[in-house]
Amino acid sequence: MLLQTQPKETALGLGLDGLLFGCDYNPEQWSPETWREDVALMRQAGVNLVAINVFGWSHVEPRPGEFDFSGLDEVVDLLHANGIGVNLGTGTSSPPPWLTTLHPEVLPVTADGTTRWPGGRQAYCPSSPVFRERALALVRATAERYGAHPAVRLWHVSNELGCHNALCYCDVSAASFRRWLENRYGTIEALNEAWGTAFWSQRYSAWAEILPPRATLSFINPTQTIDFHRFSSDEILDHYRAEAATIRETSAIPVTTNFMVTAHIKNQDYWTWAADMDVIANDHYLDHRLERPHVELAFAADATRGLAGGAPWLLMEHSTSAVNWQPRNIAKAPGEMLRNTMSHVARGADGTCFFQWRASLKGTEKFHSALLPHAGTRSKVWKEVVELGALAGRLGELRGSTIDATVALVFSWESWWAGDLEAHPTTDFSYIAQVHAAYEALWDLGVTVDVVAPGAPLDGYSLVVVPSLYLVSDSDAKVVTDFVDAGGHAVVTFFSGIVDETDGVRPGGYPGAFRRMLGVTVDEFAPLAVGSSVALSDGSRGTLWSEPVELVGAEAVVSYASGPLAGRPAVTRATAGAGTAWYLSTVLEPDSLIALLTRVADEAGVLPVAAPGTGVEVVRRRDSQNEWVFLLNHTDETVHHDVSGFDLVTEQPVSGRVALAPGGTQIIRQDRKAS
Ligand code: GLA
Repeated sequence: MLLQTQPKETALGLGLDGLLFGCDYNPEQWSPETWREDVALMRQAGVNLVAINVFGWSHVEPRPGEFDFSGLDEVVDLLHANGIGVNLGTGTSSPPPWLTTLHPEVLPVTADGTTRWPGGRQAYCPSSPVFRERALALVRATAERYGAHPAVRLWHVSNELGCHNALCYCDVSAASFRRWLENRYGTIEALNEAWGTAFWSQRYSAWAEILPPRATLSFINPTQTIDFHRFSSDEILDHYRAEAATIRETSAIPVTTNFMVTAHIKNQDYWTWAADMDVIANDHYLDHRLERPHVELAFAADATRGLAGGAPWLLMEHSTSAVNWQPRNIAKAPGEMLRNTMSHVARGADGTCFFQWRASLKGTEKFHSALLPHAGTRSKVWKEVVELGALAGRLGELRGSTIDATVALVFSWESWWAGDLEAHPTTDFSYIAQVHAAYEALWDLGVTVDVVAPGAPLDGYSLVVVPSLYLVSDSDAKVVTDFVDAGGHAVVTFFSGIVDETDGVRPGGYPGAFRRMLGVTVDEFAPLAVGSSVALSDGSRGTLWSEPVELVGAEAVVSYASGPLAGRPAVTRATAGAGTAWYLSTVLEPDSLIALLTRVADEAGVLPVAAPGTGVEVVRRRDSQNEWVFLLNHTDETVHHDVSGFDLVTEQPVSGRVALAPGGTQIIRQDRKAS
């Protein structure tokens, strides 16, 4: 379906065969003898793309201005001689110790004024001119040396920009924030208006008085905080642009950086970044702090496809097994790495890479899994890696194929920043949790979803789901209301449409921007006390939130059945223009939400992909000739289904009643003309 951005690199092959399959490789940690052994093993595993020099700065520029590319030359040539493409890091992700010693002013500062010291990574202020100058000198030297090297297929700018240092509160950042604000608002009066500084004597009389949202005694101005998020996202994007422009002075190779579309990092508004990338790339790790990590994986993959405008994208990093940075780092069960990888491929990835090639022996990531674990080639992981590499080679046939969805889910980094701010109706609210809840119900239903930006065109979709879109501009809200007026179906959940882009409340009743379309009005929020829930008329319970919903044209579908709101509508349905709009004023239990969305999907004519059992993920990719049905069994049970085609995992034709093993993966190619 139509997604917001235009397809980028439609042939994501980068001139390589098969799907892109590879890893980060940190040869700085190993001897030249090991490099040779590594490259031989990479060939055995079917690796065709390797990211190097990601953390190379202190090696290639050991002293200020003194470049030594000899080690990198050797590794690039070795990979090339073995037919392996290079995803070349610019090496700027972590400043070397000489830089932070010479220029301690590049170090980032937290909201309470504390300097963050070297010894970890990304210890730099994104606004630092000194850092920028040194980083670009390195990029220029690297691009001049390798910009036309035939091994290099992709430029990898920095690494996970803003992972640790997105928000810097130092004086240099403050000055840059002021310039950004002047550009946004033009006059100090306009800023005062937008920030609501009539409140608490916060009125500014000059730009110089404005600071980043540093630690305060009380709640801080929310618009100041939201603008600081916007500024910080733009500031790091600006760094990306500077590196990319420097590369492009001497190299025509595609440029990208690895995004972090994930549940626990929210500092970059990637909707505003996507257009700058030649290839959309994401890093994703299963998050075992969540209840269903594989469903969040699917959400992140769909969101990445959204950023790619529906075109194929690259999974730049994931893990073969456990990571090392969660409280409990869960190893993957047999078959799980394949399943995870294929969930990304099913949802549009034309390449899947890992962090990292060989497990480190030293440093804080030594207990992070790798393609080649400490135990070496006798390990379960290695065996699975070799099988996966062979499969990636076979899957080259689906490169460029796409995914059709008739449901769009609106996802907003701005609402994530703004919705989760302090001094809101309940600290139990989490924007991303509400987005995930809506997505999970659709996942359970077998509905393939496009994740879209607020304001993205909705033409061609049957249904749009708008979870807790707290902050939305009038024009972006209008895209949803126009869609419904024209005959579309919408589901909007509580705490949506409340404020405009300045975090200013829309007066006259909640849910503000969507009130007319939804045919309801709400006088006040009624969040629930900790641990409590409220009975609903369908026999289920609502949690977290409730509202005294008044009907203004809508009908009640489910009502509150206990507590002060007993008898009042909880879930409503309205006809608006030629379409239908549903409102959910509380958090439904997963089964009730699934039941409700089943009805909505049915009315909207959305056809879920039939899954052979609960917990089996089914997604289709297609091109003009073929359809590839991905079946991923996330359960411990064997499931049976009727299918015919060719299974690319087992390399066997299948037909009739087929078993899908517990934890198993099937990728069935079907000829579209034959069906
Ligand atoms: C991120 C980074 C990698 C590595 C992995 C570990 O994705 O980009 O350098 O630290 O996390 O999971």
